[in-house]
Amino acid sequence: MNVYDSDRMTDVLAPLGYAPVASADGADMVILNTCHIREKASEKVFSELGRLRIMKDKARDQQGRDVTIAVAGCVAQAEGEEITRRAPWVDIVVGPQTYHRLPELVSQIDPAARQRAVDTEFPEEVKFDQLPGEHAPRGPAAFLSVQEGCDKFCAFCVVPYTRGAEFSRPVDGVMTEARRLVASGTRELTLLGQNVNAYHGEAADGASWSLARLIRELAEIDGLDRIRYTTSHPLDMEDDLITAHRDVPSLMPYLHLPVQAGSDRILAAMNRRHTHDVYLRILDKLRAAREDIAFSGDFIVGFPGESDRDFADTLALVDRVGYASAYSFKYSPRPGTPAAASEEQVPEDVKSDRLEALQQVINAQQFAFNKQTEGRTLDVLVERAGGRDGQMAGRSPYMQAVNLTGDESMIGRILPCRITEARQNSVIGAAA
Ligand code: 5AD
Ligand code: SF4
Repeated sequence: MNVYDSDRMTDVLAPLGYAPVASADGADMVILNTCHIREKASEKVFSELGRLRIMKDKARDQQGRDVTIAVAGCVAQAEGEEITRRAPWVDIVVGPQTYHRLPELVSQIDPAARQRAVDTEFPEEVKFDQLPGEHAPRGPAAFLSVQEGCDKFCAFCVVPYTRGAEFSRPVDGVMTEARRLVASGTRELTLLGQNVNAYHGEAADGASWSLARLIRELAEIDGLDRIRYTTSHPLDMEDDLITAHRDVPSLMPYLHLPVQAGSDRILAAMNRRHTHDVYLRILDKLRAAREDIAFSGDFIVGFPGESDRDFADTLALVDRVGYASAYSFKYSPRPGTPAAASEEQVPEDVKSDRLEALQQVINAQQFAFNKQTEGRTLDVLVERAGGRDGQMAGRSPYMQAVNLTGDESMIGRILPCRITEARQNSVIGAAA
């Protein structure tokens, strides 16, 4: 979602004459768009700000040039005051709900006089209504935010506090943005939301549309060949959404559905409000709807109170599912969340051991998934030039990164590709 938000910030700033550049060196403004989900992400902001201070001082001392430094995103939202205290050279602090006001904030500051602007409100007006309709092309595969915030309050998670209450964009705005993206060359859309499958946007006639209904409508857009959505909560995996996986060919056979843990005791302590069995039954239903669907998930190890036995349940669940990929994290206590106050914190070395053990299993599953695509022909949407000369990069329907020989004329095309070799994080293919 930060990628989407960053792109939208460049749209907002374009009328002021700002355009994105490849590097912070020489830039007139640097915006750090930040993540607060784990402590590591958060701490990175302050080390990055240290580097930017040196850059800013140098530009002023050696070139008489002021560089505007802005911090956006969820760290700005949660730690706005601390940022201005610890890093007084920051000119703008803006939260995820107010970045449409960037032009106003830019006009309020005076870097030379250390006059700052801070805006971390949850405003009355809807950001999406204020953002410009026009935007730069986003390329063959683009993000589209349809939902923000979360009312689930998992015990470990800051999202309900930083991104606020659950909000769904009205259908019309989403459809208009989707059509514009497709007109500018986008062929694959990933619908975004912290809790995207809880989407319930208002349609023009006042009706409330589910995510499934929205997907079915989007699928009618000529030239939109692929649809994905992320991230979902198991409890909002309604039957109509599962059926959409059966009925809508452009809905890709890959789903990121986090479960976080395999132990029912820990799931309850996490306030996930479902058991491991409920999760597995949802996956069964999805497989029945779309036989070849591939799964990905998120896992937290070392949640307060997690015993060896609980962790074994996580490994057992992973074993049962067989993921195409998955993300796993050490539990990170976040300020203001219930779990952070627990007295049953798991020691750091235990977390590290569990993470390593889990990642070993996940990596093996990912490789096995890639391996079983060897010899098969998959449709690949070519997105960009690859790392090496003469190499292009794209994605299979199952979200695998595919490297293939070719040239830039392939970008934006969906090509049948024979998978010749599986790697850990990618596969090699040849246009068939
Ligand atoms: N500690 C570790 N991981 C976390 N996540 C969210 N909050 C925390 C936390 N406090 C993980 C969850 C979520 C993903 C986006 O980040 O797995 O699904
Ligand atoms: Fe955080 Fe997702 Fe739980 Fe919402 S559903 S509180 S975003 S982990």
